[in-house]
Amino acid sequence: MTMAQAAELSPTVRSAGVKIHSTEDFAGMRAAGRLAAECLDMLTPHMVAGASTERLDDLAREFILDNGALPACLGYRGYTKTTCISPNHVVCHGIPGPKALKDGDIANIDVTVILEGWHGDTSRMYGIGEVAPRAKRLLEVTYESLARGLATIKPGATLGDIGHAIQSYVEAQRCSVVRDFCGHGVGRVFHDSPNVLHYGRRGEGARLQAGMFFTVEPMVNLGKSAVKVLSDGWTAVTRDKSLSAQCEHSVGVTETGVEIFTVSPAGLFQPPVS
Ligand code: MF3
Ligand code: CO
Ligand code: CO
Repeated sequence: MTMAQAAELSPTVRSAGVKIHSTEDFAGMRAAGRLAAECLDMLTPHMVAGASTERLDDLAREFILDNGALPACLGYRGYTKTTCISPNHVVCHGIPGPKALKDGDIANIDVTVILEGWHGDTSRMYGIGEVAPRAKRLLEVTYESLARGLATIKPGATLGDIGHAIQSYVEAQRCSVVRDFCGHGVGRVFHDSPNVLHYGRRGEGARLQAGMFFTVEPMVNLGKSAVKVLSDGWTAVTRDKSLSAQCEHSVGVTETGVEIFTVSPAGLFQPPVS
């Protein structure tokens, strides 16, 4: 049976405009999420000073195609690369190019694969060589903010619970949460409803239900939260030039809590901070 036929057989159920997925759909997302995470694992040894972001993007594209999947970003709304690579004060959607990474940089790589019609979307941070203490702290705060957001997910919780957990932690650490970009429903569609805000109030927003799929992908700045998009139409940077970090998982709400589809099989999701 093709995916199109399968889609016809399982009419989409929605709750508050958010699709409710079946057990088979979880299997599809599990495979897609795993491949996206494996792509980021594969890149880890290549994240060294002197590596151009274009070269890393080429490696990601080859890996995805070799594994029978498609790069979701390639051709998406006119985007021409497989990954987004966002170093230092780039918040997100950095376009891979000839510029090389250098010692002391921090960088996010965001990759989305389409495997058997399912989108696996994940990003993580890498440190290049010796990273300054304030940059290490930012990586830790960003990772922990995602962990705290994910820990709230279970049927009956709300999207506001996720945003509140992230925002309250980040701000207590004297960092700021970017408000111009959010997580999103994910599945057969790349960017679906709901919008998953990384700030908010407990108890507000849509109620979570088993079978919902979405991403959580907080962007955290060492300075102020304001961002601007450069004239290339994609690259978002902090207005105050402060360092920015992000990490992203694709998840599903289960009967008892949450399943993270994009766990690193090699245990490399959290950047090693010595
Ligand atoms: N992967 C990004 C996200 O987390 C989207 C990138 S869209 C692109 O939603 F076109 F810039 F690649
Ligand atoms: Co995403
Ligand atoms: Co992403």
